[in-house]
Amino acid sequence: MSKKRILTGDRPTGPLHIGHYVGSLKNRVNMQDDYEQFILIADQQALTDNFDNPEKIKKNVLEVAMDYLAAGIDPEKTTICIQSQIPEIAELTMYYMNLVTVARLKRNPTVKSEIEQNGFGNNLPVGFFSYPVSQAADITAFKAEVVPVGEDQKPMIEQTNEVVRRFNRIYKTETLKECKAVIPKVGRLCGTDGSDKMSKSIGNVINLKDDTETVRKKIMGMYTDPNHIKVSDPGKVEGNPVFTYLDVFGKDKEKIQELKDHYKKGGLGDVKVKKYLYEVMEEVLSPIREKRKYYEENKEEVMKILEDGNKRAREVTKKTLSDVKDAMGINYFS
Ligand code: TRP
Repeated sequence: MSKKRILTGDRPTGPLHIGHYVGSLKNRVNMQDDYEQFILIADQQALTDNFDNPEKIKKNVLEVAMDYLAAGIDPEKTTICIQSQIPEIAELTMYYMNLVTVARLKRNPTVKSEIEQNGFGNNLPVGFFSYPVSQAADITAFKAEVVPVGEDQKPMIEQTNEVVRRFNRIYKTETLKECKAVIPKVGRLCGTDGSDKMSKSIGNVINLKDDTETVRKKIMGMYTDPNHIKVSDPGKVEGNPVFTYLDVFGKDKEKIQELKDHYKKGGLGDVKVKKYLYEVMEEVLSPIREKRKYYEENKEEVMKILEDGNKRAREVTKKTLSDVKDAMGINYFS
């Protein structure tokens, strides 16, 4: 039986952090044996709100690729590729643009809230507004059956499947395939300050590439229970990010339960718990850091992996584009 095809993607706007790791990277590492997996570094999508800073995006394409490899993505099993180097995606986007209305795009809740957050006002770029169409092209170019994404990406998958159905109906074909979103069971990891969202600009994230001293400082500075002032005070475990992280990353569930009981009763200081969390995180992060160091010292190897990945990706996307043009009857010279 042939393996099912998976496509996932990331915008290369900054280094990947432990939220990415538990939310998606770990899954990708686990799935690469059982699925035919493609990972798209969506630099064109990143440019839709960073068009004035292509240098930043370019730099982060390499950073993100190194994060993947360091976290255990095996380029023999998973194809890593770069969106801007796959022109078929842009071409498909052109045809799909006709199948999506402005009204429909305005209703996409994720785009809607991003537009508000970005404060585009009257200067909303068409490219940003229409990126769900380009994302439909990403997904269909690979004829992906399964698309693991965060909750916020569900509207993109719905829009993709609408494009698929419209295309197939209008051009009387079965060329395009609908895909299924797979949403990870683990919820979004909170920031080190306890806020819901991890964000570079707030500085509440632990990056995969952080050195051990940075990780230690970030953990020692973590938000805990603000009412746990004296060591002897009873503390709260729920909503306390130090315990949230322990639950997510810690293996010794018994020890964690003991710490929780002790903390709730009083007599256990934050520093002690944080020191233990630091040990737990280092167990996860130090092998990743080590591997990353290798790739940082061998960047040409990373570039070669990306180049090979792109070649493999285009074998798939070229075929899809040709099928699409066939269905539309616009393959003039073949
Ligand atoms: N929009 C996704 C995000 O912001 C990134 C992305 C681009 C993507 N193309 C994709 C995800 C294709 C899945 C499939 O996280």
